[in-house]
Amino acid sequence: MNSKPEALTMETLVSLAKRRGFIFQSSEIYGGLAGFWDYGPYGTELVRNIRESWWRAFVYAQPNVVGLDTTIIQNPKLWQASGHVDTFVDPMVDCKNCNHRFRADHVAGFETKDLSKYDEKLAATKCPNCGKVGEFTPARHFNMMFKTYVGPIDDEDHLAYLRPETAGGIFAQFLNVLESSRQKIPFGIAQIGKAFRNEITPGDFIFRVRELEQMELEYFVKPDKAREEYARWKQYCMDWVLGLGLDKDKLRFYDHEKDERAHYAAESVDIQYEFPMGFKELYGIANRTDYDLTQQGKGSGKDLSYFDEATKTRFVPYVIEPSVGVGRLALALMHSAYTEEKVGEETRVVLRFNPEIAPVKVAVLPLSKNEQLVPLAREVFTMLAGKYRTEFDETQSIGRRYRRQDEIGTPLCVTVDFDSLEDKAVTVRHRDTMKQERVKIAKLPEAIENLLASF
Ligand code: GAP
Repeated sequence: MNSKPEALTMETLVSLAKRRGFIFQSSEIYGGLAGFWDYGPYGTELVRNIRESWWRAFVYAQPNVVGLDTTIIQNPKLWQASGHVDTFVDPMVDCKNCNHRFRADHVAGFETKDLSKYDEKLAATKCPNCGKVGEFTPARHFNMMFKTYVGPIDDEDHLAYLRPETAGGIFAQFLNVLESSRQKIPFGIAQIGKAFRNEITPGDFIFRVRELEQMELEYFVKPDKAREEYARWKQYCMDWVLGLGLDKDKLRFYDHEKDERAHYAAESVDIQYEFPMGFKELYGIANRTDYDLTQQGKGSGKDLSYFDEATKTRFVPYVIEPSVGVGRLALALMHSAYTEEKVGEETRVVLRFNPEIAPVKVAVLPLSKNEQLVPLAREVFTMLAGKYRTEFDETQSIGRRYRRQDEIGTPLCVTVDFDSLEDKAVTVRHRDTMKQERVKIAKLPEAIENLLASF
């Protein structure tokens, strides 16, 4: 019997992630830095696989989407035009009793643009840290942009920002991409990259971090097609995360009310996932109207409108934007994949990852460290390693080695035993069923491919 533990806690995931080399605190030997996390060897494979899967689904599978890779630091005028310099803010309050700082919306339990509504609610609210009631300062805005200086002089003229989202670079390169790739509306530009936000309260492990990675698509459409395309991408994103292996009953759409939407968005929705701390935003999809190209057009003085040859009309395209964080998705995937089951006296922990995202696809295990078995096992490893992330493990009992692979979600283990020397065959063990089958070494690559596809 296998099951997700009744209450799978964040602590369980944090501990597994550290012990097995998925995620470490950044600069941990110095005590770490709040809101910054590193990916260890298996975490690095996991996030690479997530990025590749996203790129296949949002770029390669589309007839009209192209990729882009823009810089993290750009001309600061871009962020003035986008509104980030003035409005990329979160509401902040301090508790006057314990001096802890909070996001006002987190303490109040709702989001609004009207700061006085927070003050009203917080006048009768307990501080989550010290428990005192009504000790909050009035809510005020805090700008989350990280600042730096470009060049050798640290003054206002050399001020620049680390991008708070990858989208801005896409809008700034709209004309270059349009002209060089000969795309016609509708078409999309996709980008994966780092973004930086000086979050007031980073936390919940890698859920809310200050250095994050986003996978964003800006899909440019005719204004009258925007609603239809928004609905299409909304469903496409949900289907994609389901296909990656997220639990269906832990996912839901959360449509934003007018008060919760960015002022430029005509419609927006979150795909929420039920993390250990409750349902939270995983994926954001928005109809951003013509706001971005209009603003960047004004800011740069360039005409970012589009001329439609077919209808001989000129318009500023609307943008549909699906945007998701790589780390936040990795956390949801680890949470969905985690299961425990009793095998005899032991608890078997299995990350039931979809093979597409599993850090290691196949482990090759010589039954013992024998001078004949190890070279044959090495040959088997070489047959597979160029195509799949394959691990070679020859230490400790075979049972312990299976458990180690289960815990990192390796779909298949290939054991080379003494019979292999005679029958030129190996045992392939399936992670989920623990079933084993004998496969001729000559047929192994084909068998592995079929087995991985059968999960
Ligand atoms: N360009 C639109 C945009 O950036 P967003 O809702 O602020 O929209 C999109 O961010 C996605 O990026 C979120 O749904 C989430 O997956 C991820 N994300 C945002 N802030 C994050 C943070 N501080 N830590 C981790 N992921 C974050």
